[in-house]
Amino acid sequence: MASGKEMQLLFHFALVLSVVLTSALTTLDSDQELQDSGFGQPPPRHGLKLLVWYVQNCLDNNMVALCDPTRGEYGFHAFMNRGPKYLLPVIKDKKQYEYYTIGNLNAPHAKDLPYEVRKYYNRSNPESNKDRVLVRYNSNNKHVDKIYASAHYNEKETYIIGPKLFASLRHPAALISIEM
Ligand SMILES: *[C@@H]1O[C@H](CO)[C@@H](O)[C@H](O)[C@H]1NC(C)=O
Repeated sequence: MASGKEMQLLFHFALVLSVVLTSALTTLDSDQELQDSGFGQPPPRHGLKLLVWYVQNCLDNNMVALCDPTRGEYGFHAFMNRGPKYLLPVIKDKKQYEYYTIGNLNAPHAKDLPYEVRKYYNRSNPESNKDRVLVRYNSNNKHVDKIYASAHYNEKETYIIGPKLFASLRHPAALISIEM
């Protein structure tokens, strides 16, 4: 049997470990940073179009979700942020918050995504289906309060969408230079 002190030490060790193993994700906070990251482009990757579509169509001005992730709309499903190497910050208040992911073009209801997002999908080419948008969703007030972009949950290609970039993507002319 471990003594109280040993248990305490173990607990602290586990705590430190979980902090260390939580990845430090890069924040993208301008169009330029998004472009430079290479996220979701060029075709057949679909992430950039997915992100712009999501930001412009699935949220209102107060960040209330217009696409209900809990009902699987557009292929949304819960994202299990599992350890030991947590991709996203660990959620403490699990009663209220959950992560959801969208972008798998093979998921049920993904066919409801606009053609512009789906058009390069090719079952034989994994590049065409590796991008995801992840959101932290509050089921009590139906708000989305965090948005991430990820190339198939690879930590090095997972980004926090910062507030300035978000505001820019909300604009109807967002990333107009990109072939949509
Ligand atoms: C689909 O992807 C495969 C593998 O990359 C490629 O050989 C094929 O030409 C692609 N098909 C289309 C229609 O682009």
